[in-house]
Amino acid sequence: MKDLNKIEQEVIKSLDKSLKEGDVLEIKNYYLGRKSGVITYLLKSIKDLSDGDKKKFAPQIQSLKEKTEKMIENKLKELSMSDISFKDLTLPNKKIRHGSLHPLTIVERKIVDIFTAMNFSVVDGPEIESEWYNFDALNIPEFHPAREMWDTFWIKKDYKKKDSKKRENFLMRTHTSPVQVRFMEKHKPPFQIIAPGRVFRYEATDASHEVNFHQIEGLMIGESISMANFKYIVENFLKKFFGDDITFRMRPSYFPFTEPSVEIDIKLPNSDKWLEVMGAGMVHRNVLKSAGLNHEEWQGFAFGLGVERFAMLYYGIPDIRLFYAGDLRFNRQF
Ligand code: PHE
Repeated sequence: MKDLNKIEQEVIKSLDKSLKEGDVLEIKNYYLGRKSGVITYLLKSIKDLSDGDKKKFAPQIQSLKEKTEKMIENKLKELSMSDISFKDLTLPNKKIRHGSLHPLTIVERKIVDIFTAMNFSVVDGPEIESEWYNFDALNIPEFHPAREMWDTFWIKKDYKKKDSKKRENFLMRTHTSPVQVRFMEKHKPPFQIIAPGRVFRYEATDASHEVNFHQIEGLMIGESISMANFKYIVENFLKKFFGDDITFRMRPSYFPFTEPSVEIDIKLPNSDKWLEVMGAGMVHRNVLKSAGLNHEEWQGFAFGLGVERFAMLYYGIPDIRLFYAGDLRFNRQF
């Protein structure tokens, strides 16, 4: 009897001291836990008492159990109420950290927005590409020295696609130009498209080279689309992207899939350095032919630019590897 009273006092005292729900639950487990709770043990041992003791103690132990349950329940209620009633709802909440867009996403969207405003449609193509679309159809046959311009990640030789009987060589596309061919095969000109996407090069990494980066391809085909149209579009684009005081020039260059080919250099305000930003040219007749277009009927220009390059110039980022390092101190600045 004395012990039962002592237990009750103990429960009251320890509940009084508890300030957290966790403490109360611990107390509950200590006294009422199914396996080794103190009161549970007493209840279990009733069956071993003599008949006389049973009559005397059983009701008391039962009542101790009920009281304890009630006290614990009340204490839990009290704690959860106090939680609400003492919280000042006008206090500022914990600061929520918002995610932000990756700088490459921001710059890609900015470029895409400028072109869609000029009525270009956005299309895409696969990152694992066949040798045909990445090279042959673009007037770069096997053993053509120009293949050296693109260091290629090849996929296991003679890989056979599940749904195709044809054996073909596959690779990680080295540029977005194969999307030109894929689009021309399926659509009748006139059209104007851009194709943003990831490309891969089997190269050593350094401050200006990565094994994967992003390009935006452009293609405009019609009956009489010329370099003059390209000059207008590219000037508009560069001014919208970098601002009106940008200077640019077209420099003769070489790509197997364009003829003539040019490279666009820009000069940023307050700088006297020419920076190469994109390749372009009139789509080569062999490319039109590969895609099934009649080169007597259709002509146009294509261009390709590197998104990382634009982002680095736009934000003044010195090293391309920063884009992929996953360092939040870098990512959060944009
Ligand atoms: N595909 C070329 C490259 O990667 C760029 C380009 C695209 C040039 C379209 C001309 C026309 O480097």
